[in-house]
Amino acid sequence: MKNLKLLLLLFIVSAQAQQGGMWIPSLLNGMNEKEMKSLGMKMSASDIYDVNKSSLKDAVPQFNGGCTSEVISPKGLLLTNHHCGFDAIQNHSSVEHDYLTDGFWAYKMEDELPNEGMVVTFIVKIEDVTKQVLSGVDALPSEKDKQAKIQENITALSASFPKESWQENKIRTFYEGNQYMLFVTETYKDIRLVGAPPSSIGKFGSDTDNWVWPRHTGDFSLFRIYADKNNRPANYSKDNVPYVPKTFLPVSLDGVKDDDFTMVFGYPGRTTEYLPAVAIAQIVNELNPAKIEIRDRALKVEDGFMRKDNAVKIQYASKYASVANYWKKWIGESQGLKKSNAIAIKRKQEAAFQEKINKAGKQAEYGNLLSDFEKNYTEIAPYAVAREYFTEVVLRNTELLSTTYKLYQLEQILNTKGEQAFNDRKQNLSDGLGDFYKEFNKEVDEKVFEQLIDLYITKSPKQFLPASLQNANAKKLAAEVYQSKASNYTGLKELLSGDSKTVLANLNNDAAFKLVKDIADAYFKNVAPKYDELNLKITALQRTYMKAQLELNKDSRLFPDANSTLRVTYGKVKGYEPRDATVFTSMTYLDGAMEKYIPGDYEFDVPKKLIDLYNNKDYGQYGEKGKMPVCFIGTNHTTGGNSGSPAIDAKGNLIGLNFDRVWEGTMSDIYYDPAICRNVMVDIRYVLFIMDKFAGAKNLIDELKLVHPKRK
Ligand code: ARG
Ligand code: ASP
Repeated sequence: MKNLKLLLLLFIVSAQAQQGGMWIPSLLNGMNEKEMKSLGMKMSASDIYDVNKSSLKDAVPQFNGGCTSEVISPKGLLLTNHHCGFDAIQNHSSVEHDYLTDGFWAYKMEDELPNEGMVVTFIVKIEDVTKQVLSGVDALPSEKDKQAKIQENITALSASFPKESWQENKIRTFYEGNQYMLFVTETYKDIRLVGAPPSSIGKFGSDTDNWVWPRHTGDFSLFRIYADKNNRPANYSKDNVPYVPKTFLPVSLDGVKDDDFTMVFGYPGRTTEYLPAVAIAQIVNELNPAKIEIRDRALKVEDGFMRKDNAVKIQYASKYASVANYWKKWIGESQGLKKSNAIAIKRKQEAAFQEKINKAGKQAEYGNLLSDFEKNYTEIAPYAVAREYFTEVVLRNTELLSTTYKLYQLEQILNTKGEQAFNDRKQNLSDGLGDFYKEFNKEVDEKVFEQLIDLYITKSPKQFLPASLQNANAKKLAAEVYQSKASNYTGLKELLSGDSKTVLANLNNDAAFKLVKDIADAYFKNVAPKYDELNLKITALQRTYMKAQLELNKDSRLFPDANSTLRVTYGKVKGYEPRDATVFTSMTYLDGAMEKYIPGDYEFDVPKKLIDLYNNKDYGQYGEKGKMPVCFIGTNHTTGGNSGSPAIDAKGNLIGLNFDRVWEGTMSDIYYDPAICRNVMVDIRYVLFIMDKFAGAKNLIDELKLVHPKRK
């Protein structure tokens, strides 16, 4: 009987722990802390976040805006993913020094490579400022006025909240405008590349394995933070010194097993877990298919060129990877949403919620919420689709068009802000676009254009197209548009020389400019105003919907959607069963990489040295029972931006490096299904093994604090 009770208790606790969630680190006290301890955590909430003493948060900076990283040595050594450092590794590469292919290791600090523009940002402090931000807002009549007042309050508070001169204040909204938090941050600007494995390790499996389990990728790279003599942020200087962190993560040599507690600490970018069913249906049926088809075509063209020409392969490696990444994500997401019946489940929950509203006597406040969603989402549909076409075709995937769009904005600047602003921006563009053209290939881009403009003409909502496109022919258009001066750097600089009159006359004579102007003018006249108007209404509805849920679901804890701020997610090491009779276990080994090995293949080649180490089972202190662990999965609720996040054990040691999610669970940004949503991590022992045995970077291993938390 006693055992049964215990079992039942365990069951309840672990069922709860699988709800997912990304929690605010300063608010873990109470429910979260209790749950984390019940899952095996041996730390307290204040070991994770504290403002009075150093805590784990001091070792986890955001990496260059979009990823996460962690400090792992007293000399500011920083670990993140290979795919997060990819751009930097690519920028240092040439056909002669191809660090993407061969890897890069600095065996002395002097050899570490600076990266212009790269930053990492630490959180110093988090404060709830909801009251201040919302003060005076309720009294205002329109949504527009409310938003303006909120912005005004945010600006004022950011300027007045106490901070040191080298720090910054940033305010972010949580629960869709129901809560506001202020972050005091410190941004370091001298970040140097220290080490990267060859892509055949760091990107092993490439796009075929991306978003898929089982995985055998050593997705890591190493950087170092440099600071001025006072340990403060400073621009690059050779006089800067390695940053001394408030704390750094010890690294566990003991590995993981099923059911071990795991915590992932990082900067998840964006989730939309509280969308109504009608919005999810729109994503599955209209928005994702359009975006997928566009990228499908762009990728096919680029892939063809990259396979033929090594120079193009280096030039397009990073762009291709990022376009392919979300293309594949959306495919998995749509499949997962369908397979998990997310829409039907949400509809059911909404019906129950409507009843709750009625029972609580809140009809006046919340009674029309769901029908208003229905109405507004239906109305916005064609505008939302047109917006995706515009964004994907013009702004994201055809490079000549996205560059020319900057010239279009230049013309707008003259019209709205005058001559001085125009000249400043013009100079900026003329100087700044050099890097873009280094990685631009006209031949490739023209073929991409031909494919994508064809979709724009034939598939985007006809009623919004400019007249010039209504019956246009993609091939003919391509031949004209790629005569543009903007198709090379010299031409662009010519286009931009002279006074504003001359520049405008030249631009308006240019084929690419004329096309972009046509498309953009039509978009800003036919689509954007209505889209913005409806979207503002939807945003207000989402805020009220969130408020209603917080108010009427007091018994269940709701986590705020990701918003690129620091979050804690926790769970256990655990496999999953995606389909009937299919079981995925939680850990992979180097044996699996060898099973996938295809000599000379651009995705599945394995470096000779790694094969030798494998054949000799030369794993040093990093192997386990004669095998080399590579990756593992867990029930942590992560999303884009969590890449490079530390996976931390019960006592605060580093056990892994987060880098992906499993295919069946990629819909977790919209609908988290605890049965199949898993995050993918590199086992930290594989990282150490590659650094030590493969690369011989003993200098780096010596900086680390290696620990054995599981030894008695
Ligand atoms: N899917 C992972 C994430 O969203 C890894 C992406 C990098 N790898 C790639 N093959 N594109 O970032
Ligand atoms: N790979 C993602 C990232 O780069 C993580 C994810 O989406 O699971 O942040």
